[in-house]
Amino acid sequence: MMSLFPTQDEQLKKIAQLRCELHEHNYRYYILDNPQISDSEYDKLLRELGDLEKNLGEAIPDDSPTQTVGYKPDIAFSSRKHAVPMLSLANAFSDEEMSDFVRRHKDILADDSELVYIAEPKVDGLAINIYYEFGQMVFAATRGNGMVGEDVTDNIRSVSGIPWKLTGHVPDKFEVRGEVYMSKASFEALNKKQQDAGEKVFANPRNAAAGSLRQLDASITARRKLSFFAYATGLGGEAFASSQSELLNQLEAQGFATQETALLADEQAMFEHYQAWMGKRPNLDYEIDGMVFKVNDFKQQKLLGSVARSPRWAIAYKFPAEEVETIVEAITWQVGRTGVITPVANMKPALVAGVMVSRATLHNIQELARKDVRAGDRVVIRRAGDVIPEVVKSLSIGDIKRVKPTSVPEFCPVCDAAVEQEEGEAAIRCTGGLSCSAQLKERIKHFVSRDGFDIEGFGSKLAESLVDKGLVKSIGDVFHLDFDELNTWEGMGEKKITNLKDGIESRKQVALARFMYALGIRHVGQATATALAQHFKTLEAVQQASEEDLIEINDVGKEVAASLTHFFAEEHNQQVLQHMFTYGVKVLNDETPKVDGNHPLTGKTVVITGSFSNIKRNQVKILLQQLGAKVASAVSKNTDMLIAGEKAGSKLKKAEELGLHVVDEAQLLAWLEWSEDNVDAV
Ligand code: IVH
Repeated sequence: MMSLFPTQDEQLKKIAQLRCELHEHNYRYYILDNPQISDSEYDKLLRELGDLEKNLGEAIPDDSPTQTVGYKPDIAFSSRKHAVPMLSLANAFSDEEMSDFVRRHKDILADDSELVYIAEPKVDGLAINIYYEFGQMVFAATRGNGMVGEDVTDNIRSVSGIPWKLTGHVPDKFEVRGEVYMSKASFEALNKKQQDAGEKVFANPRNAAAGSLRQLDASITARRKLSFFAYATGLGGEAFASSQSELLNQLEAQGFATQETALLADEQAMFEHYQAWMGKRPNLDYEIDGMVFKVNDFKQQKLLGSVARSPRWAIAYKFPAEEVETIVEAITWQVGRTGVITPVANMKPALVAGVMVSRATLHNIQELARKDVRAGDRVVIRRAGDVIPEVVKSLSIGDIKRVKPTSVPEFCPVCDAAVEQEEGEAAIRCTGGLSCSAQLKERIKHFVSRDGFDIEGFGSKLAESLVDKGLVKSIGDVFHLDFDELNTWEGMGEKKITNLKDGIESRKQVALARFMYALGIRHVGQATATALAQHFKTLEAVQQASEEDLIEINDVGKEVAASLTHFFAEEHNQQVLQHMFTYGVKVLNDETPKVDGNHPLTGKTVVITGSFSNIKRNQVKILLQQLGAKVASAVSKNTDMLIAGEKAGSKLKKAEELGLHVVDEAQLLAWLEWSEDNVDAV
């Protein structure tokens, strides 16, 4: 949490962190087709970043997630530059936000100009740009980062709703845009096939469409049955029509599939239309996640223009999460890494927004009591923000035939140890510690996870089997596996064993921040782990720190300090650490430079340009900010220095013209006292 009145440094740090986080989410969403957070959580982060950037009042770099759309294309497909950039849409979540949208138009446009909006359902698929020359399809590309996308021409040809040839009066060079999607029926059929074949099942039709379009073998795409709706043009569009409704009619006449639309003259009509479509949504044979409202007239659109990511003349009014009814079969208890025991509703499987859901968290005992969910109840469920399933309410409350409420366990359902509830805490906990196999399994998973030791080939299943079979009794055992025994397990062939061995061996040297996080000490998340590493530099120093020493660090409160000292004071934990060191684990000292008022970069306004060979640009930025430098995006007379990597272009030229101090990568690294190790610490 940031303090109520964050300092500029705190704000810069938070901004850097949010940019990094959003960048990763973009990657997971656009490249891996495997988002880890819901659209609404993503939007929340993006808004938070936007607000902070606005608040800070500095130039926003072009590559900030608030200024970009999507992610840079996957290298497996060659890239294609869009002749006209592909923008995204701003979102609205309430009628008030819609009213603001309309008010902005009235403010900008002359009073007497009549405003008409066109409403289009917002299809949940992926945006595609199709380029035609003299009526012939030449190529098709994904949106990518909005400027450059991946060439998917071969795959697009099998998508229904896209003509290969255009006839009659069309621009010589013409870009048509729209959404490739998978119908609910095709999605279910595909997942069934995938499941039968033991292949990956897709979380929702959007992921299935994206995964299917990005197949290197176009025949696979063809079998997956994708469809398309056209909704915009790029190059050539202006000459082709004078309004969105006319454009859609023309595109339809050319053979493109288009959606049902409506022209609406005022806000009230827009609200009603939105509600009506919310009702139609479950009966459509494809997924929509909102309604798009666009100013219909192209001249007015042009006058309204765009802001960085999106046009001012269009908005996506998102639907709330879809709710579905099902039956609770049982309430069970799940034990987490730190022993927290969570009630879980096990339900008759139901399809919620395209995903089969059979388990939903009930969070904690208060929540369970408040919602009064019982086995046998008919319940309403939804995927919170479209990802994590949750029970909204029970519809059986008041029914006299209901079973009694589930009682709160007094003993851990896995290890039978006593259950405790700390004062003022909602959670109940298993006191079994590491003797509880459920806790141990979760600890191991956390220890080897991406943000922990990041051991390749060490998945959840393996962690569970190792604990079940008694091969791993503490986190330290990860570095002391009995590979001969493992080799006798089904599915653990030579290749897997070798990969696992390599994965473990290559991670034995670990940055202090990662190590601190991986230990899974209560209240020590990534941010705290990084702060501890930066402050104390060595593991010994962290271990020797008293509660008072610890509290001196920003973000470390009493609870965290107590939890840390408690952890290191425990004999058993010391033994686990000692074992790890005997097995070859080496914790690297943190070498992130300390913020020091005398550092040549502290307080300087710096611009970064070009590419670097030994360090990622994003890391340069974070490190500079940690040193107290301000990182700006444009060179001006207020810039103190330009850090120029290879292939620096116009910014370098401008800096030279202004006679600014230009620094190369070697000098930068020397300043950062760079070493390989703190790559991990950032
Ligand atoms: S118009 C300049 N219309 O939503 C505006 N987008 O969140 C370009 N989408 O990138 C987009 N249905 O992938 C537009 N009827 C519709 C849409 C639509 C779905 C998608 C599209 C876009 C994203 C923005």
